[in-house]
Amino acid sequence: MPYSLLPHNTFGIDATCDEFLEYHSEAECLEIAQRLADGHTPWLPIGAGSNLLFLSRHYGGCVVHNAIKGIECVEEDDEKIVLRVGGGEVWDDVVACCTQRGWHGLENLSLIPGETGAAAVQNIGAYGAEVADHIVKVEGVYICPEVTTAVLNHDECHYGYRQSIFKQELKDVFLVTRVWLRLSKHFTPHLSHKAIAGKLMAMGISPQQATALQMREAIISIRQEKLPDPKQTGNAGSFFMNPVVPTALAGSIMAKYPDMPHYDAGTGEGRPLVKIPAAWLIEQCGWKGKNLGRAGVNPRQPLVLTNLGGASGNDIAALATTLQHDVKEKFGIELHPEVRYIL
Ligand code: EPU
Repeated sequence: MPYSLLPHNTFGIDATCDEFLEYHSEAECLEIAQRLADGHTPWLPIGAGSNLLFLSRHYGGCVVHNAIKGIECVEEDDEKIVLRVGGGEVWDDVVACCTQRGWHGLENLSLIPGETGAAAVQNIGAYGAEVADHIVKVEGVYICPEVTTAVLNHDECHYGYRQSIFKQELKDVFLVTRVWLRLSKHFTPHLSHKAIAGKLMAMGISPQQATALQMREAIISIRQEKLPDPKQTGNAGSFFMNPVVPTALAGSIMAKYPDMPHYDAGTGEGRPLVKIPAAWLIEQCGWKGKNLGRAGVNPRQPLVLTNLGGASGNDIAALATTLQHDVKEKFGIELHPEVRYIL
């Protein structure tokens, strides 16, 4: 009997899979890993399904969900605390709990949909913060070359912008169980994103004086204004990553579009790089607020693609391909999905 994935993907795609397996402990994770280790069954690790697009109506394999709960303190002093968090904890519950208890650093990551294990895989980021900045280590289970538990420290996770070893070398061979987070007992408002200070001032709060709870409230309010609630309109947040391109290419575009927003992105292969908002590129191509069949481009944040009701994964993918084509043609820039396509 096919298992419905409708409640397990925020795009609201009506797909099914052969089997849905869940682990609530390391022991259960090891049992599942043993089952998958023969290599005969395709499998997909899943959190809350907030970064996935099911292309087929049926996924011919096992979907594996981390349901390990719990937030334990493993180390604490006057300055900091280290928490060991079950990968199945809802991410925003963790942020809410930490903010209320005076454990700081996650406030700007408020209200990001999804669960903690997936947050560590994707290196979620928003409003000038990234979860990798707080990850001490990640616990999990290898499925091959042999089934075994493992702990990867921060450096071994190879974190980058929306990147980690779990999306690269360890894709399809590793199941996350728990994530260790280091948080500070002192709060400093992180105001680098231009929307934050304006929002705090609109709330009657001087940005430098904002408390952690006020910061969380401001971030939630900004997100709610810009991003559609997946419970009402199917979506997976930003569909594409913001492209990072050589400064020379950005310069040639700016000769024609002097107002193009862009941010310093360090260097790559010795060349200076800049990040360009994909939202701007999509808007310039005239797609903001438009749709292709049942797939839409959000009118407030065009980096978010939406299911306007009853869209299939292919409907969303067709829109994404069209946007990639148009952006490439107009600007010579490739957009790469942040969302993972599942065949
Ligand atoms: N912009 C436009 N037109 C628009 C909207 C935005 O041109 O209609 C341009 C503006 O120049 C704006 C810039 O895009 O300054 C950036 O927009 P925004 O701050 O909303 O963020 P983003 O770059 O589109 C990224 C993350 C979001 C995160 C926000 C806030 C990625 C792929 N996305 O989006 O993360 O919430 O920054 O920090 O990096 C997610 O990953 O799912 C996600 C929502």
